[in-house]
Amino acid sequence: MSESQPNAAFTPRVFSGIQPSGNLHLGNYLGALKRFADSQTAGIQSIFCMVDMHAITVWQDPEDLRRQTRELTAGFIASGVDPEKSILFNQSQVAEHAQLAWIFNCVARMGWMQRMTQWKDKAGKNQQNASLGLLAYPALMAADILVYHATHVPVGEDQKQHLELTRDIAIKFNNDFGVDFFPITEPVIEGTATRVMSLRDGTKKMSKSDPSDMSRINLTDDADAIALKIRKARTDPEPLPETVEGLEERPEARNLVNIYAALADLSVEQVIAEHGGQQFGTFKPALADLAVAKLAPISTEMKRLTADPAQIDTVLRRGSERAREIAAPILEKTYEIVGMVR
Ligand code: TYM
Repeated sequence: MSESQPNAAFTPRVFSGIQPSGNLHLGNYLGALKRFADSQTAGIQSIFCMVDMHAITVWQDPEDLRRQTRELTAGFIASGVDPEKSILFNQSQVAEHAQLAWIFNCVARMGWMQRMTQWKDKAGKNQQNASLGLLAYPALMAADILVYHATHVPVGEDQKQHLELTRDIAIKFNNDFGVDFFPITEPVIEGTATRVMSLRDGTKKMSKSDPSDMSRINLTDDADAIALKIRKARTDPEPLPETVEGLEERPEARNLVNIYAALADLSVEQVIAEHGGQQFGTFKPALADLAVAKLAPISTEMKRLTADPAQIDTVLRRGSERAREIAAPILEKTYEIVGMVR
């Protein structure tokens, strides 16, 4: 990770979050969880959060929210995020996120929020009926990151615009108050799987909200389901190209090659060198075997961990205490800068 100039004064620190609002899928794993696990480099503090307060910007059944928060925590651990090395917790247990978010609500401008593509997509034509939280969501996300003075945020491609807004909020706060207090966060969007696409349509992102379960591989899918979904994945009739350039204009083929590369820790060039020229009848079973080999142990471990919710709650409570130790003094200093009497 490169340290950018404006942040030279800040200790490198990684933060990222995932919403506990549905099943974890292959996009979350390759775009986020696997990279979080790989990034736990000694010496750099990593903080990972189940963003339950983001989840309720759209209605969540309380029992489902509790179960999904625990399942997501199990997903982090099963993917290799070590709760001793990293700080693993749920957002609502560290009130400093909401407290800083309020200040950022007063820094961010309405126009910035209304421009967010996620707001436009999720609120759709019915903006008057969307929650105020859904509009304010990016200010809470900025608070998640900046309450730790995090310098690096690993995410998938779809979060890029929110991270740009986080930078805008930090810059405006620093300017408004004449300080150099918040770092200008670097998005870390790297690797071959920063945008895993739907298995049914290579031009659409793999997403938990897609009505078709065949469009995504869930981390809880068993080996048969994974193999079936890959066998049925939409493709074109041509064999795999012999060169990487040959994947252009072939979104479905490119998606499967990218997934293979990310799962196998290979570059796209290496996958093409090995599999170029193959028919999908040959490539798909190879991909299915690889996916089952990598994902089945994660799904088994998730089941084992979720069987003991008390243990998961202990991890989250301890993580929250550690998170608060970092967040509380940063919030306190923010209040002082803003002029709150303490
Ligand atoms: P969320 O919960 O939608 O997704 C969690 C992570 O998974 C990535 N991701 C994907 N990556 C590749 N291909 C896909 N098809 C795919 N789908 C999802 C996302 O990019 C993300 O990294 N707003 C965030 C949560 C959040 C957050 C934060 C993230 C709240 N506060 C602070 C970073 C820092 C979200 O809704 O992610």
